[in-house]
Amino acid sequence: MSKISIVFDRVRAEEKMLQKEAEQLGHDTTSIDAKITRFSTESKKTDYDFGNVVLERCVSYFRGIHFTACLEFLDIPVINTFEVANNCGNKMLTSLLLSKHKVPTPKTYFSFSAEAARENLDKVGYPLVIKPIIGSWGRSVVPLKDKDTVDALFEIREFTDGPHDRIFYLQEMVKRPPRDLRAIIV
Ligand SMILES: Nc1ncnc2c1ncn2[C@@H]1O[C@H](COP(=O)(O)OP(=O)(O)OP(=O)(O)O)[C@@H](O)[C@H]1O
Ligand SMILES: [Mg+2]
Repeated sequence: MSKISIVFDRVRAEEKMLQKEAEQLGHDTTSIDAKITRFSTESKKTDYDFGNVVLERCVSYFRGIHFTACLEFLDIPVINTFEVANNCGNKMLTSLLLSKHKVPTPKTYFSFSAEAARENLDKVGYPLVIKPIIGSWGRSVVPLKDKDTVDALFEIREFTDGPHDRIFYLQEMVKRPPRDLRAIIV
């Protein structure tokens, strides 16, 4: 039997199911709200009781990976590891890794300025899909079908000017049935 800590920022059905399964398998579980935890450069593993392993389940991606970094600093095993969460939470890193390991993936074009992204579009042609490299629920995933859309979208990026707005991730448009297609890679 081991002790499993489930770290959350909002408890969803999935966290309750994980806890139930773990308990049915005979493990001790505790739920910890990431929002009330505190760490410092002086923190030691013995300051906390996270058990044998932590399941990091934060809805907020940034909260989750930074929390994970603190746990790994203390040598506390956490699933997912920082490396996995960082790679999988960033579409550009994911695309590069899939391609490097010869996992078929839609053709994707990366550039680091609006000008270079326009050059990619001129070369490859419409339509392409633009995505923020970090994000979920399809937010700001937009099909680029013509120059007007590109002008409007790139202008918005100029105004918002977040760190991710400077990275242009353009992907070939995949013909798909009217349902979501997902591949789970382990
Ligand atoms: N290359 C593409 N070609 C056609 N449709 C796409 C493409 N990429 C994304 N989409 C559509 O946009 C939706 C959201 O895309 P994607 O899953 O990449 O974004 P996300 O923000 O990570 O969403 P989620 O949180 O659901 O994973 C997809 O479910 C699909 O319907
Ligand atoms: Mg996604």
